[in-house]
Amino acid sequence: MPLEVRAGRVSIDPRDPRFYSDPYPAYAALREAGPLVHWDELGYPCLTRHADVNAALRDRRLGRQILHVATREELGWAPPSPTLAPFLAFEEHSLLELEPPRHTRLRSFVNTAFLPRRVDHLRPRIAALAHALLDEIPRDSEFDLLERYATPIPVLVIADFLGVPREQAPQLLAWSHDMVAIYQVRRGPDVERRTVAATQEFSAYIRELIARKRREPADDFLSHLVDARDAQGERMSEDELVTTAILLLNAGHEATVHAIGNGVLALLRASRNPAREFLARPAEHCEEMLRFDAPLHLFTRFALCDMELAGRRFAKGERVGLLLAAANRDPERFAEPERFDPTRSPNPHLSFGAGIHVCVGAPLARLELQVALEVLFERLPRLALAAEPRWRDTWHFHGLEALHLRG
Ligand code: HEM
Repeated sequence: MPLEVRAGRVSIDPRDPRFYSDPYPAYAALREAGPLVHWDELGYPCLTRHADVNAALRDRRLGRQILHVATREELGWAPPSPTLAPFLAFEEHSLLELEPPRHTRLRSFVNTAFLPRRVDHLRPRIAALAHALLDEIPRDSEFDLLERYATPIPVLVIADFLGVPREQAPQLLAWSHDMVAIYQVRRGPDVERRTVAATQEFSAYIRELIARKRREPADDFLSHLVDARDAQGERMSEDELVTTAILLLNAGHEATVHAIGNGVLALLRASRNPAREFLARPAEHCEEMLRFDAPLHLFTRFALCDMELAGRRFAKGERVGLLLAAANRDPERFAEPERFDPTRSPNPHLSFGAGIHVCVGAPLARLELQVALEVLFERLPRLALAAEPRWRDTWHFHGLEALHLRG
């Protein structure tokens, strides 16, 4: 698509299919134009290069939140939409949206739960689930990998982990999709209403589940959280418990689904013998899949004080975009970045972020991706594309509508 960066500004409609179907040529143009480019449709400047995005993720002068150090009036912000009030109240307890010291405290409750040695025992269960899903697919037929495989695995794994009954999976998916829809660029009042309704219903469901876990604790993470204490010996409040459980359930599957879909597509396009190559180096393939076509492309930060970033002054409260997926293709950091190359080592992609908000679920996501694809390629060694896939109109949740394959 034609793209012109003039005086450090660019106009790209994130909902233009020519952009979201393949945003990488646009990212290359942005990186070449400079380390910081003002994106008109987003309304803020974005960092485009690996070194700067990596440094910004770790820079404590930047925060995901600003309202802990400035009021809306000071920032010149309009009052929040009253429709959204219940969602904003929910987010007040989300560690993803908080800065220290509240972030540190809430993160301490979940920090160790997803360490590699803790999640590794889930390997046989994930493999069993993957086999069961493939058993359901008729032999030699075409199937949609996203619907039949990539979508159910992460939601069932995270539901089991927290102790949410598996029958709830379709409802968890529906609530989660309605909640994350709020992050899309240019959303209407309909989206806000759906997000709020989903937040309220999901919260009510989790409150009841928490009450059940209090009465009858089980061997699951929600039962553990209900009873866990922080360094001061204090438990989580009811609202903190609800938000944390929902955050883990939503974050626990939305991105992993598309890591599987985007990863399989990248490998099938890049390799003549995908199954053999994947099975020879599964971990390295997964890292390259995450670098090559990450499911999450953009996160933002606020300047917590007046500061300089990539040669520009930022006033306290100004926003900056971090283009993780542009950083992942930076030729200054990765040789031949447009090539899918699982032998690259090291592979310091930024798909899980970095710094204090680095993805807490990364070890689980890596395990799910690896086990799901090992089982897939062992069972279906001749896997091939059955149709050219279409991308979803959700850009920064970069993923496919469907991925039709032949086994
Ligand atoms: C391939 C799949 C995944 C990707 C690409 C991904 C990516 C990310 C990224 C980039 C962040 C940092 C956001 C920021 O810096 O503003 C993040 C945070 C987070 N992720 Fe993931 N994630 C994935 C899977 C998961 C899973 C499976 C879980 C849960 C088990 C999870 C839970 C979280 C949570 C709770 C946070 C917030 C951490 C904090 O703010 O301290 N993610 N994720």
